[in-house]
Amino acid sequence: MVCLGNICRSPMAEGILRQKIILHRLPWRVDSAGTGGWHVGESPDARAINVMKKMGVDISGLTARQFTVHDFFRFDHIFVMDSSNYLDVIRLAPSEQEKNKVDLILNQLYEGKNMAVPDPYYGSMDDFMNVYHLINKACDRLIEKFMHEYMG
Ligand code: 4NP
Repeated sequence: MVCLGNICRSPMAEGILRQKIILHRLPWRVDSAGTGGWHVGESPDARAINVMKKMGVDISGLTARQFTVHDFFRFDHIFVMDSSNYLDVIRLAPSEQEKNKVDLILNQLYEGKNMAVPDPYYGSMDDFMNVYHLINKACDRLIEKFMHEYMG
């Protein structure tokens, strides 16, 4: 799960997907990162922590890190939040094969529409809650889709 700062959208996405992975007992791993390095080492934004807590997921222990080229070899799928993240990640891809691992997370819900999860950093709690609901729905769809890929 990749966004710009790794303190708002992607740590929320990591927490949401991890909870579903546990619920469905899937042998998957999930992590998150930011394309930028400004917040490396920081905890998620307090508003992201609060909204997630309200929805039953504790993300207070996560630490921001920057996306690196190694992530292409560690993961089968790389979900980004907006097209700016997409371009930043694609730029680091070692080959076409790795580029194909990258997609906007909302394409899980609205295929080919390239819709963004809006950056809530300068927004309100409502904006953070909106991020939660968008990512939650996208992760439900993602699980449904990829569960069959892995379970046969
Ligand atoms: P995120 O939100 O990409 O969802 O973590 C942001 C966090 C920090 C900044 C921008 C977006 N920033 O400019 O510092």
